[in-house]
Amino acid sequence: MLYMEITTRALEILALAFVLSVGLVAMLALVLFVIDRTQTSDAVRRNYPVLGRFRHIFSTLGEFFRQYFFAMDREELPFNRAQREWVARASAGRGNTVAFGSTRNLGVTGTPIFVNAAFPPLEDQVVQSAPMTIGPDARAPYAAQSFLNISGMSFGALSRPAVQALSRGAREAGIWMNTGEGGLSPFHLEGGADIVFQIGTAKYGVRDEEGNLSEEKLREIAAHPQVKMFEIKLAQGAKPGKGGILPAEKVTAEIAAIRGIPEGEASISPNRHREADDFGELLDLICHVREVTGKPVGFKTVIGSADALRVLFELIQSRGAQDAPDFITIDGGEGGTGAAPMPLIDLVGMTVREALPLIADLREEFGLHDRIRLIASGKLVNPGDVAWALCAGADFVTCARGFMFSLGCIQALKCNRNTCPTGITTHDPRFQRGLVPKEKYKKVAAYADCIRHEVAIIAHSVGVSDPRRMRRDHVRIVQADGRSVLMSQLYKGYKNPTVS
Ligand SMILES: Cc1cc2nc3c(=O)[nH]c(=O)nc-3n(C[C@H](O)[C@H](O)[C@H](O)COP(=O)(O)O)c2cc1C
Repeated sequence: MLYMEITTRALEILALAFVLSVGLVAMLALVLFVIDRTQTSDAVRRNYPVLGRFRHIFSTLGEFFRQYFFAMDREELPFNRAQREWVARASAGRGNTVAFGSTRNLGVTGTPIFVNAAFPPLEDQVVQSAPMTIGPDARAPYAAQSFLNISGMSFGALSRPAVQALSRGAREAGIWMNTGEGGLSPFHLEGGADIVFQIGTAKYGVRDEEGNLSEEKLREIAAHPQVKMFEIKLAQGAKPGKGGILPAEKVTAEIAAIRGIPEGEASISPNRHREADDFGELLDLICHVREVTGKPVGFKTVIGSADALRVLFELIQSRGAQDAPDFITIDGGEGGTGAAPMPLIDLVGMTVREALPLIADLREEFGLHDRIRLIASGKLVNPGDVAWALCAGADFVTCARGFMFSLGCIQALKCNRNTCPTGITTHDPRFQRGLVPKEKYKKVAAYADCIRHEVAIIAHSVGVSDPRRMRRDHVRIVQADGRSVLMSQLYKGYKNPTVS
């Protein structure tokens, strides 16, 4: 009897709750209907009150869910699932073999097809890539161990735990880590990796009170034995002609102190270095920084036209190789960024696939192969990309977003806000909690190791014992008519490089 009574009572309460919630939903719908119908800023909501709101909800959710449910393996941009999955498996140290057959469409124009050798080297014939010297004439030349390294990403764009994990991982893998334009922090140094210090146009970390380049600060930075080289940033691929952008919400007290700027105000770098108005002044700046620091100095740029750089090479020829940059980093227009205007990210600057062979040819033409090292970046995140770059004439490849994937990046495209869900590009401790440097550094190192290992597999397959011996004869490029042509026939200016 009591049981019946309790059940009836519970049913009555449930029925009441149901009626109340239906009533509440109906009232809410009515309020939203009135709001939507009377507002004047959104035509869809005005014409389709309440229902129009679902469009916004679905497009926001679609951003997150299409990668799981709808996009095919090779569909997404900037990086498709196949590329990201490769990095995830490499970073986790899982076997990187796939089954059944390639999901890659091999008929797409520009696809590199490596030229397999009839008699590849045996296991006991393969060799480890030797370190390569950069800046032979600097007081402290740099013998760089690895052809793959970490591209510039500032502390500011990246979170503290991300920088910590990268620095430890870089040390573990024997690769360098570029500071990006945000200055040198203790977190870059704590892992013990080799560091390339980037001098951005705002000169964070090496500026005096007026924002000019400070010799004293340059010397202080160069005094760190870990700092091996200086890179003057002219432009990065994602935003040529525009300086760095760090939104106000990412300028915390710590970042402001390291950069020497006010906390909580957006940090916008000038479009270029004030003291470098032309290539002559750029060479003067390079010589000055090299003289003050004693370390190799180069510059980073994206290429708009190879003719522009021809002027630089002619100038180097007339001034003498001693004034040359020790390296040039060629970043592709497809490069990434923490934040950039869309027209620049989309449409300005050649891709690295187009620019690298042209600049390598120029270097060859002017006989500067052993004087100026070429570093390439721009979506070179999988072994085939890196092997292509080595064939095209790069001495080194640097990678930014590949290493972000190794840290757990899910391509949420939120680096310009402070809400990165994986803690990589946010200073919100709530999100940073998920990124534990003492675990993640292993993934950074495993990714670097796996790329180098698989680039070596490609090298052996084309018949050379060391990745650095790969040449343009070793790769064919698929043309618009579906046939592939040797890269050495497409670009003829580049001779077989000497391996030094
Ligand atoms: C979050 C983020 C921050 C970056 N910060 C810098 C920077 O401070 N200086 C710079 O020269 N490039 C910066 N870059 C560009 C990278 O160094 C690199 O040139 C570009 O992303 C291409 O490499 P990737 O395709 O491997 O990412 C940044 C890229 C990302 C994704």
